[in-house]
Formats: sequence, structure tokens, C-alpha cells
Amino acid sequence: LGLAAPAAAEDGYDLWLRHRPLADAPALAVEAAEADATVRLAARELERAAAGWRGGAAPAVSARALLIGTTASPAIAALRLPLAKLGEDGFVIRSASVGGRATMVIAANRPVGVLYGAFALIRRVEQGEAIDRIAVQDRPRVALRMLNHWDNLDRHVERGYAGQSIFDWWRLPDRVDPRLTDYARANASIGINAAVLNNVNAKADSLTAPYLAKAAAVADVLRPWGIRTFLSARFSAPIELGGLKTADPRDPAVAAWWRAKADEVWRAIPDFGGFLVKANSEGQPGPRDYGASHADGANMLAAAVRPHGGTVVWRAFVYADTDPADRAKQAWTEFRPLDGKFADNVLVQVKNGPLDFQPREPFHPLFGAMPKTPLVAEFQITKEYLGFSTHLAYLGTMWSEVLSADTFAKGKGSTVAKVVDGSLEGHRLTGIAGVANIGTDRDWSGSIFDQANWYAFGRLAWDPAADPAALAREWAAQTFSPAVAAPVAAMMMPSRQAVVDYMTPLGLAHLMGTGHHYGPAPWVADLARPEWNPVYYHRADARGIGFDRTRTGSDAVAQYARPLARRFADPRTVGEDYLLWFHHLPWDYRMPEGGTLWQALVRRYDRGVAAVGTMRAQWQALRPDIDAERFRVVSDDLAVQEREARWWRDASVAYWTSINGLPLPAGAAAPA
Ligand code: GCU
Repeated sequence: LGLAAPAAAEDGYDLWLRHRPLADAPALAVEAAEADATVRLAARELERAAAGWRGGAAPAVSARALLIGTTASPAIAALRLPLAKLGEDGFVIRSASVGGRATMVIAANRPVGVLYGAFALIRRVEQGEAIDRIAVQDRPRVALRMLNHWDNLDRHVERGYAGQSIFDWWRLPDRVDPRLTDYARANASIGINAAVLNNVNAKADSLTAPYLAKAAAVADVLRPWGIRTFLSARFSAPIELGGLKTADPRDPAVAAWWRAKADEVWRAIPDFGGFLVKANSEGQPGPRDYGASHADGANMLAAAVRPHGGTVVWRAFVYADTDPADRAKQAWTEFRPLDGKFADNVLVQVKNGPLDFQPREPFHPLFGAMPKTPLVAEFQITKEYLGFSTHLAYLGTMWSEVLSADTFAKGKGSTVAKVVDGSLEGHRLTGIAGVANIGTDRDWSGSIFDQANWYAFGRLAWDPAADPAALAREWAAQTFSPAVAAPVAAMMMPSRQAVVDYMTPLGLAHLMGTGHHYGPAPWVADLARPEWNPVYYHRADARGIGFDRTRTGSDAVAQYARPLARRFADPRTVGEDYLLWFHHLPWDYRMPEGGTLWQALVRRYDRGVAAVGTMRAQWQALRPDIDAERFRVVSDDLAVQEREARWWRDASVAYWTSINGLPLPAGAAAPA
């Protein structure tokens, strides 16, 4: 494998930035063309990586010259590199002749581009590319590549499965954990450039002076790594903090309060990014409490942050008991009429699917339906509905499935990626957000393989068209070694489909235990609101199963563009992935694969369980190539996953048989 030195503690702390010894380690003599702090960080990263590749050996006498810097420095400007179209974050890596000497160059328009270029070079070397052959020109397709931390001020992380929040609000601002630097560095290495520090279920406290001082201390750490700080804002803060009687966005006193608050925030954090807002959703306050619209609320805040160049990211995740017929329809119903009504510094953030981060959902119908509004795609990196950090599920495939889905908004080829990167409608303000899976665990994400989801998120936010298989290999090469990149990626690629198969096959959704969302509970039917109950989603009875979202049912299909609506509305053309999402079908419905729906359903559960067994075997085969520590923790988790995949299958199948009275199909695995 080319590994020379004994492994240090392999507890996962170093993420994909391990820089293990390489067989033909290139020696680098890095020269920063300017004194900028970020360019210096880039130089340090390159030196650190090169030292790791040498495995502690002394630097070679004849090191390769590597010049890095921006066009602000005469040395870089003189090279006249093709940087004009690479924007603020793009970079060029290539060899050039500098003062008559063959030199590698990393050049960019801004310091952060140099940093991204440095990490790109490191990534390529660690995948086995020969350094002299590296010639890259790259730039991100999306402007805001943002993590959303659902971290509370008491350090509990909502839907967090990796320990406590890394933001220690109690000790900040006086004590700043060095871990924050490692966090910033990891994010910068994959192109993430914005972080919302606190939960969308926000407390007003986060906007008080003491907390702004704490956030400012965090922002100081993130800044040189090119990461801007955002905060979630509680819409009713003018009441809670300002003593006003209302938070009505149309009230001039409310608008004035937010203006003053924005001024205060930017005094504390001069490069503050803006506010993320969850309004009128799951009990959060919002403009609709006063009969005002989401646009009224967002625009009032947008006016407050505008003088500072700030942005408002307004979430479209809304559901209330106003449309008990189909929760999946509400966001479209409420937001689509507001297209064109949002100020130009507002982004509307839309979850990947219309429900809530299920193992599989069709893309959210708002993508493509609000051409005048820049839409941020919101993905959940933390695996709330996919087995927390115990089950191995690589989500690069899931996000890529959504990003490459065709909305048909402007004819064929109008993919979600084109909506989100702004190219479909010419938006410049664009964004992708990921609900972070980061906590105080030594391995940051609760498991080694969950680090891959953080990694893939950043890389897909940079390039929504990136191939998830290539990203899996990239991650595995750096996290383990180039030799195992292909077999590790081969484990990862089918892993999310396995979860779909053993939890919610054939388009079923939301069958997890209520509240915690871990483990099967399709039978729950007694919760106060209809859409809190799994039975609301599967609608199984003696005759059939599935949610009729065609014209004879909730007609959610009508929220999609014509050609798609037609395809989704017909069980013969919808495809098996969304079959029971859009259709209620008899148990004896004939499947294209042959046999009945009931047989196919049971087959999917069996397939899911078998796929986890295959992953375990694949991992076992890698034992000689993986350090003992990480090998063991992954093995332990896979054993749990296999047991729990059976639990999902057996509990689900037993429940369905209690409803349909059908015998287990021939050949189905008998429950344990
Ligand atoms: C889900 C999740 C909540 C979260 C919400 C949101 O419903 O279970 O914990 O607050 O999404 O996205 O706002």
C-alpha cells in the first residue's frame, strides 16, 4: 500500500486529511507570493501534507518549487493565467516557467481560491496522481455552500448522533476550542464556505449581546478559512428581547428593531452572512401569526440586513394541520404563489423532498416552480431517518439522485441542479445547505463512514453534477488508502438503497418510530395529529397499500410539471422507486418484474437485509488493509445494522400480514 510509518491513533479525528506516507512522495518547496493570512494557511496545508507523505523523513534537497498566490501579487499576475472566468473561489493549478525555472503554480483571484487549490492538489496526489501531470482549472457552481448546525445553545444537537455541539457557548468567547480550527480546516478542504451556528428551532437568546460576542469569537476562527458565519433567527425576537408587543413584519417598530439588531450583529461580526429562518413550522413563530405572508416576513428581515450586504435564507419547510389531506403538498401551496414577491437578497431553502428527509422521496415540487426566486436545496447530512450514525448509508447517491432529477420546468433537461446552481433562470445568488452531522465525538460524525457524507455534501455543493461514485472513491482513498478506494466505494454505493429496501421499500415513507425516528413503527395510529402517525403515510388496509397522490387522491402529482405529473400519475410508468408514494394499489397488483405487489414488497425487505450481509462480507475482506481500530468500530456497527435490518424487515412484514392476512410469499426469509 506504500504505507511506511506505523499508524498513529486511528480514531477518525483526522477525517480525510490524514496525509499518510506515500510511496513516491513529492517533496515541495512552497512559496507564498503574498503575505495574506489565507494564502499562508494554504502554504501550511501543503507543507503539512507533504511532511505526512514523507512519513517523517527529512525534506528532500531538490524539492519541487510550488508558487501559490492571487493575481494581487506581481509574481502571479505576470503569469497571465486564465483566471478571468473562475470567479471569487476558482483556481488554476499548472506548471509554469517562473524566472526560467519549472514551477508548479496554484493561482486564484482571491486568497480563498488559493486555499481551495491547495486542497485540490493534495486530494489529487493522495489519489495517486503524479504531481507534474496535475493541471486543473476549477470553480464552484454554487455560491453559498452552507452547513446548518441544528445545535442548541445548551450544546444538545437536535437530530445529532455524534455527541454534543462543538460550539461551547458556555466557555466562549474567552476560551476558543482549538477544535474549531480543525473544523474550519475540514470544511475549507471540501469547499464549504458558510456555517449557521445554531438550530433552526432558534432561541432568541442567540441574538443577545453576550451571544453575539461568542459567535464573533467563532467567526474569527472561521474567517481565514473562507467561512462566513450565519445565525438562525427567531422571528418573535422583537417581543422576547425587545419588549415589543408584536413581531408583525408590517409594524414599523418591528422593522426598526430588526434594523438595529442587524447593525449590532454586523458591528460584532463585520463579515456576517445573514439569517436563516424557520417560520410558522412545527410551532415556530412567524409572519403568518399576524396574517402576513412568508414574503412579508422575509422581506422585512432582508431590508434590515441589506445595508450590510446580508442575506436572508427563509425555509420552506412548513406544515401545519391546515391541509390534513396531504402534508406533502403544503410547502408548494404556500410558497409558489409568492414567487416574484421576495426581495433580491432572500433565498428560499427547500428540503430535497416534499416530506422530511426520508430514505427516498421524489424531489420537492417547488424546484422548478419558483423561477423568480433563488432556491437553496436543503439536504440532511445527519441521518435522522436512515439509522442515525449506526447504519452505514452513503448519501452521495441520494443527493445526486435529487440533483440530477429533471423538473421539466423549462423542458427536458431542467434538472434540480440547474435550478439550484442558478443556471436555469440566471440567478447569481445560489446555495446548497446541509444539516450537519458534526459533534464532539472523536470521529466528529459518530462513525467513520458518516464522515463520507460530510465530505460528499461539500463536494456536491461545489459541483452538483459530480459523480457520487467518484466522490466515494476520492474519500476512501484519503480516509483509508488509494489501494482500497475501489472496494470501499463498492460497499458505499448500494448502501443507501439497502436502507430504503429494509425500511421503506417501493416508495413507502415515514414508518419510523414517532419522535426518535429510529426503528420500525408502521402500526402507530393514535397520535393527536393525523400526519404524525405512520398509518397516515402507508394507508394499508385489507385490500391494498400506498398513498394515492393522483387525481383520485390528494392530487399532489399536479404540483409537478406536466410530463412528470403524467408519468407519476400512472402506476405503470411511475417506476418502482415512487410506486407507493403516488399510488394506493391492491396487494395483488401485478408488478412488471412478475408476481404481485405483496411478493415484490417482501422481496425488497429480503434484498435490503441481504445487502447489509454483503457489506459485512466486503468489509471483512478488507481486514488486512485497514488499521485495527477503525476496522473494529466499523465491523461492530455493521453487525448492529444487519441485526436491525432484520428487525425492520420482520416487524414490517409481520405488521403487513396482520393487515392483509396473506401468507409469506414462497422463498421469503422466515422472520428470526
Ligand atoms: C424534522 C426534524 C425536526 C426539525 C425539522 C426541521 O421534522 O424531525 O427535528 O426541527 O425537521 O427541519 O425544521
